[in-house]
Amino acid sequence: MDNKELIKKAADLISQSKYAIGFTGAGISVESGIPPFRGEDGLWNTTDPSILSLSRFYRDPAKAWIDIKKVFYDFFGQAKPNAAHKALAQLEQKGILKGVITQNIDNLHQEAGNSKVIEYHGTCSNMVCIKCGKKYRSSDVKLNTLPPKCECGGVLKPDFVFFEEGIPSEAQSESQKMIDKADLLIIIGTTGEVMPAAYLPHMAKRHGAKIIEINPHFSAFTNSITDIYLGMKAGEAMTAIMNNL
Ligand code: APR
Repeated sequence: MDNKELIKKAADLISQSKYAIGFTGAGISVESGIPPFRGEDGLWNTTDPSILSLSRFYRDPAKAWIDIKKVFYDFFGQAKPNAAHKALAQLEQKGILKGVITQNIDNLHQEAGNSKVIEYHGTCSNMVCIKCGKKYRSSDVKLNTLPPKCECGGVLKPDFVFFEEGIPSEAQSESQKMIDKADLLIIIGTTGEVMPAAYLPHMAKRHGAKIIEINPHFSAFTNSITDIYLGMKAGEAMTAIMNNL
């Protein structure tokens, strides 16, 4: 089957679904100018992932913040939703998409208009005091002196999940509820290699959900649970699907 026929098949599955959800990774934001973590131009090719080690952060927050600011905050807020984000928002407006579970921390699904977004790995948009737990909007926090501090004097940490850190319990329980109800998953831009996030599509498949996957490269899902694989970029594939609805 060529891409045209696959797009039509994917669009039909989406139209017939009763409870479709999006499952997204860094790849959906590449066309918004945010580099992925792995693959060509992947962040981890040039940056040591230990910058996101929780124990390293606690040991020396001032040092950790130098890298965190450079990688995650120097261009904070400049990226905009692309056609793929906007298509998922349109699917929610049509009452087809019931929510998005994202591994991304860039807030682009919300900016595109999706209201039910589960940020499985937290978000860049907030910071939290590691001493008293007070939360701040990242846009209100000055980063001219590092580490940024809370009113209580405690160090502020970005409110996204570091390596060695657990998944926020609410994100876990909310995701599980959606996965249990899903009859269709639209997986966009993820290697499917990072657990426990990548377990979620497998759980959906196990109870009979259909899987549409959009990714220019094969992922850990492609030859295991994917029903319709579109080897395309997110924006191009989602635009074509929307034109076939
Ligand atoms: N459209 C769709 N997919 C794309 C595009 C694009 N334009 N460009 C790249 N991709 C795909 C790549 O082929 C790859 O499969 O997006 C995926 C990006 O992989 P990763 O960078 O590993 O992103 P992700 O799978 O979301 O990583 C999961 O790992 O480091 C942690 O917490 C981090 O949430 C992240 C998690």
